[in-house]
Amino acid sequence: MKKLNELNTNTPTIIIILGVTGDLSHRKLFPAIFDLYTKDLLPDDFAVVGFARRDIGESGIRKIAESSLSGKPNKKNIKEFLEKLYYQKGFFDEANSYKELGELLKQIDEKWGLCSNKLFYLATPPNFYEAIFKSLDASGLNLHCNKETGWTRVLVEKPFGKDIKTATELDRTLGKLFNENQIFRIDHYLAKETVQNILMFRFSNSIFEPLWNNQYIEKVEIKIWETLGVEKRGSFYHDTGALRDVGQNHILQMLALVAMDNPKSIEPKNIRRNRASVFQSLFPIKKEGIEKSVVRGQYEGFTQESGVEHNSQTETYFKIQAYLNNSKWDGVPFYLESGKKMKEAKTEIKIHFKKVADCLCPKEEENHKNILTLRIQPNEGITIKFWVKKPGFSFDLSEQKLTFMYPKDNNVLVPDAYERVIIDCIKGDQTLFTSTEEVKAAWEFITPIIENWNKAKLYIYKTGSDGRFS
Ligand code: BG6
Repeated sequence: MKKLNELNTNTPTIIIILGVTGDLSHRKLFPAIFDLYTKDLLPDDFAVVGFARRDIGESGIRKIAESSLSGKPNKKNIKEFLEKLYYQKGFFDEANSYKELGELLKQIDEKWGLCSNKLFYLATPPNFYEAIFKSLDASGLNLHCNKETGWTRVLVEKPFGKDIKTATELDRTLGKLFNENQIFRIDHYLAKETVQNILMFRFSNSIFEPLWNNQYIEKVEIKIWETLGVEKRGSFYHDTGALRDVGQNHILQMLALVAMDNPKSIEPKNIRRNRASVFQSLFPIKKEGIEKSVVRGQYEGFTQESGVEHNSQTETYFKIQAYLNNSKWDGVPFYLESGKKMKEAKTEIKIHFKKVADCLCPKEEENHKNILTLRIQPNEGITIKFWVKKPGFSFDLSEQKLTFMYPKDNNVLVPDAYERVIIDCIKGDQTLFTSTEEVKAAWEFITPIIENWNKAKLYIYKTGSDGRFS
């Protein structure tokens, strides 16, 4: 029996991927949709319609999908899956293209004999969003073909806007076409198993939450380090920079989950409200504070990357010292850091606890502290550092660790973030998607920093950096 029947979502659905010939579909979307298909989690009747500018036809899109699934074992399933793919050539701002897209969707519906659900996935560069939203509106594709049953939803990739002004305008346009419950703003970090675990770990164990405040916590570090550079995304990255690319979204979302109040239930409304309220309580970093609170860097050779201007001042690294303006976190610095071409690839959160006031450890030694590390990737797991007596005739201490690792076992179902994104959108569950309040509050914090970047020196760092530049 279909697993989605239990969730009552086994209704015919078409996923329309706008910008299907791009990197995202190849790397993430086709593998994720295929995995959902092989796990029998998609509706019985489903189709993927690719929409992009290139004239590649159905055979072209099937070839792209097939190459992105080349590492998957079950060839019979791949063949069946490819038959569910369709293609419509079109321009994102051309009315006729949407008319043709509408006709193709209608043909599929007629084949199935009903009006199916429509999920529009914007996998294009963000500068096309506005044109796409307007064209969906003008063509009427934002309206569902049956008022009684089914739905039309839109999945939008980050970055959502470039700053508070553009994000607000974009939101306004989107809000005219769709209700908030039809809009799914993606931050794929929220859909990562280990990121969701932050919330469950914090609020399901009695031994941590009582200490989770400024009385016991000295500082928090949140970092995303990557060893790769900008790869083929030079032009996008030159315009965007690290802070907009992963700071405004992934890093801040991890901060929200570390610092938010207990939502008391896993209701999407509560969780999204509490995440937003963390962003709303971030102390603004103003022009005068930039030099003190922000470090920015650029890896050597960035300006020679294809698509990057030769005098580019865009950051590929940032570190921000942020504070929250509330009684629970007052005075605790949160170090938010991310960089490309760093010495290792890792995403982790470290909670540094204060030294015990009446510690039996040597008074002069500062390092007798507990550190809780949440490893988001790789080696997903949790480690706690603590101190025990060194066996022997003295009262010396030695450092020990307790570690939990997620089993590397195929039977343990850890869905890929994009599988989760797609399935939750089909289910209509918005918990792991950002609300309009979150997006706005995150931009409110980030925009003044971006506007005053030039107050902070741009360090040029070598590949393999550890973030210590000066
Ligand atoms: C994306 C950014 O959102 O996240 C990329 O655009 C970055 O620049 C990526 O590499 C990191 O995601 P992950 O899942 O690989 O950690």
